[in-house]
Amino acid sequence: MKITIFGAGYVGLSTAVCFATKYDVSLVDVDHEKISAIKAGKSLIYEAQLDELLEKGLSSGNLRIFNIEENIPPSEIIFIAVGTPSDQDGYINLQFVRNVVKTIQKRQKEILNPNYSLIAIRSTVIPGTTRRYLQHLEKRGNIGIAFSPEFLSQGTAIKDTLYPCRMIIGSNTAMASTFLKSFYTNFYGEKIPILQMSIESAEFAKYAANAFLATKISFVNELANIVESVDDADIGDVMDSIGYDPRISPFFLKAGIGFGGSCFPKDVRALLQFAQDNLAEKPSLLNAVLEVNENRPLKVTKLLREHLGELDGKIIAIFGLTFKPGTNDIRETPALSVIRSLWRNGAKIHAHDPIIDRIDLRSFSRYGVKFFSDIESCLTGTHACILLTEWPEYQEISINKLVSNMAQKIIIDGRRIYADRKIPVDVCYLTIGSSINRKNHLPFNHTPNKSSNNLKSFDAPLSIDT
Ligand code: UGA
Repeated sequence: MKITIFGAGYVGLSTAVCFATKYDVSLVDVDHEKISAIKAGKSLIYEAQLDELLEKGLSSGNLRIFNIEENIPPSEIIFIAVGTPSDQDGYINLQFVRNVVKTIQKRQKEILNPNYSLIAIRSTVIPGTTRRYLQHLEKRGNIGIAFSPEFLSQGTAIKDTLYPCRMIIGSNTAMASTFLKSFYTNFYGEKIPILQMSIESAEFAKYAANAFLATKISFVNELANIVESVDDADIGDVMDSIGYDPRISPFFLKAGIGFGGSCFPKDVRALLQFAQDNLAEKPSLLNAVLEVNENRPLKVTKLLREHLGELDGKIIAIFGLTFKPGTNDIRETPALSVIRSLWRNGAKIHAHDPIIDRIDLRSFSRYGVKFFSDIESCLTGTHACILLTEWPEYQEISINKLVSNMAQKIIIDGRRIYADRKIPVDVCYLTIGSSINRKNHLPFNHTPNKSSNNLKSFDAPLSIDT
């Protein structure tokens, strides 16, 4: 079986190296710099196991890399895995999908197998796209079309590709569906559920999965805000308790500074726009999911100002620039909003990330950020440390060591990684969704406020007459 994958981004590349463990794979991209790096065995993407599999694919000859201008050998399965970013107004931008379809159309004899080829879109696209872009090719005969989404998370992309929870095939012909199903069964064996449905249901399923997970996160974050107003309550304990209910599940219940990355924000925005156009009204829940999320990063700067006062001239350490651990991706990272807000308030910013050498730092540099690859140097002389990405390196460090060279011992934990630790009395530790440590550290310029008392609806605690 020969496979061609268009798009050498994180989905295309991860898929290519995994399928190349068994099949002949041609990986194609328009970006010459990216292609030269991949040809030389350098992925540019920081992802566990990716470099090893890339090396294996290239040395075995199963994986071949092509610039779009080069001759692409014919294949039975063509996956389109190019980016579908957001436009300014939230609509999905399909120009890269369109360009690939044009290339396939123009160079059919070269790219497609003369007997039969299946073209499947793997990029996330709004319902109706696959049919709109590919149906005219299908009509020419010997070509099947499908939509088959990916469900890879960055940081675990290889594991998710090799061991998916399910595969989805959206197709309008039995032949195309059966062809792709037999390919997946051959690769994954019989244990992985393979769901066959219409193209549009499959396109929708991808949005439904991401929108649901994003909704879970915004729900938890909204609850975290409310929990903070209740003495002695902690969002971690609350969520642990509800996660045991199988109808809820323990996953994606972590409160924090909101979701970032190249998927959730973009996909919820695209679904919102799509729904608005189709229904002529704004879907209120999806809108609220984004609204809650947009306010999350500023939560940590608000906490900081409440406890440190004016930020002008203060040095603040930022721990973690990527949108999550295990990746060098900074697309829609909450760190950028936090850094921008600190800078606007006159703070000087030190930033650390365990893989700082593999991050494109240009978007942070404009805020005068000083970058560090060493934790201790980053913290020296700082007035507070804000933790934004839950890298294992930060979890391993002791609080005493962390604060030892700080000018002021304030830690704002945007990911709750130290929430269960015993905090030394001289450290002001503040985290999301908990009032437990906060009550020991009154805000800067604190004036007692009756309305913040969570017993406000009662005049006094109830006493029971005996
Ligand atoms: C997401 C989905 O999880 C994948 O299934 C999907 O295939 C992918 O998008 C995609 O559409 O390509 P990803 O964006 O890589 O994957 O990362 P996630 O692990 O889902 O995290 C997204 C954001 O949510 C991160 O900023 C993370 O910190 C945040 N998050 C996640 C929370 O704040 N709380 C949680 O409990 C979980």
